Amino acid sequence: MEKIVLPDIKDFHKLEVYLQHGGYTAAKKAFTQSTDDIIDQVKRSGLRGRGGAAFSTGLKWSFMPKTTDKPKYLCVNGDESEPGSFKDRQIFEFNPHQLIEGTIISCYAIGAKVAYIYIRGEYHKWIKLMQKALDDAYAAGYVGDKMKETFGTDFYCDIYIHKGAGAYICGEESALMNSIEGKRGYPRVKPPFPAQNGLWGCPTTINNVETITNVPPIINKGWEWFASIGEPKHPGTILFGVSGHVNKPGVYELPSGTLLTDIIYNYAGGIPGNKKILCVIPGGSSMPPLRGDQIEGVKMDAESLRAAGSAIGTGGIMVMDEDTDLVKVLARIAHFYHHESCGQCTPCREGTGWLEKILKRLVAGKGSVSDLDLLITVANQIEGNTICALGEAAAWPVKFMVERFRDYFEQRVSKEISLPVANKVHSMRHTVIPVEEIKH
Ligand SMILES: Cc1cc2nc3c(=O)[nH]c(=O)nc-3n(C[C@H](O)[C@H](O)[C@H](O)COP(=O)(O)O)c2cc1C
Ligand code: SF4
Repeated sequence: MEKIVLPDIKDFHKLEVYLQHGGYTAAKKAFTQSTDDIIDQVKRSGLRGRGGAAFSTGLKWSFMPKTTDKPKYLCVNGDESEPGSFKDRQIFEFNPHQLIEGTIISCYAIGAKVAYIYIRGEYHKWIKLMQKALDDAYAAGYVGDKMKETFGTDFYCDIYIHKGAGAYICGEESALMNSIEGKRGYPRVKPPFPAQNGLWGCPTTINNVETITNVPPIINKGWEWFASIGEPKHPGTILFGVSGHVNKPGVYELPSGTLLTDIIYNYAGGIPGNKKILCVIPGGSSMPPLRGDQIEGVKMDAESLRAAGSAIGTGGIMVMDEDTDLVKVLARIAHFYHHESCGQCTPCREGTGWLEKILKRLVAGKGSVSDLDLLITVANQIEGNTICALGEAAAWPVKFMVERFRDYFEQRVSKEISLPVANKVHSMRHTVIPVEEIKH
């Protein structure tokens, strides 16, 4: 299977190797076409955002005003702080020039002269690697004012790497813009949307790293080629980060619509000890969990996952075997969202704390079955009542896990389930895979 985002080419991260394989020719081609044409091709390709919401990229770009006195900006979102999500760092390490080329084409399409690549603050290694690639691209004239000479065009743009502020909430697009502006990473109330009122009050587009990295091949090989890969309504490949109870955790680039069971059993090598699967969260910790007996036949694309009762999110597949203590897992997830709540809205600030408190009570064996209903009530009070989607991110795993594993939770609360002593909770946030072991 052809890989679009992480090709199996040795030393592809080096500028000279990238150039040998057609690097920066998509930009040259794009600059000979009108910006409307580029937006139209990306729209027709069916590319959808890989940052969580799977929104049409071309459509998002078309929201940018054509005529404005203000400067326009592009923010490339590499904050990647969702537990279970670790795919963008593969791009920083193995394919930084395709991300840079995608960034300059995207800037051209939306009329931005400046782009910020916002990288998770803890990603020290990947910030350095990305900066090195960017310095090389500047020196060779593929970014900055030398672009005019290199590509023979009037257009040029600058790219800055912005180190993240060490908070999950800074990945939310409006918090990210505040963070770049040097302010506290508080999400903004929408509307106004970033295309009207973004960075410093100017029109801004925010896209995920993987989304932008898909752009050069779409321009080079044509939108029809891209649209023909995987599921027609959510085409292309997706980087699936598989973690938890699998033999071969890692990042796998596969066509959208690949079966979830195929990814877990074939690519990720199945479950250690051939145990059964108890639970899978298919798109990063904020997405609704699925029961092990619900995953058969489920395809990994936005529409199929919605039909199955979950969502594609960031494609981070978290697998839990039959001996997992789901109450502890959920308590750990709730702790994360409580800790990361920025505190602006009461339902999120208070509600995430209540969820954690109730779940810790259950973990300690001091809860009751009525606590399960209380969890769902609190989650429902958060969902839909907050400024940003961290509210849903905190509410969904709790609500859907308790609903879908009601028998399990009731038995656990009434101490009818005894867990193997050796069974440890797998804290998904800390499922850090040594990069040399990551297969793609
Ligand atoms: C709490 C929170 C954290 C987020 N973190 C990220 C992130 O780390 N990376 C990302 O691309 N999108 C993240 N998002 C989604 C962004 O707000 C935005 O939708 C996305 O960057 C758009 O890019 P796309 O259209 O290419 O998917 C987050 C959203 C929320 C609510
Ligand atoms: S939902 Fe939570 S994280 Fe988002 S703005 Fe409100 S308090 Fe902050």
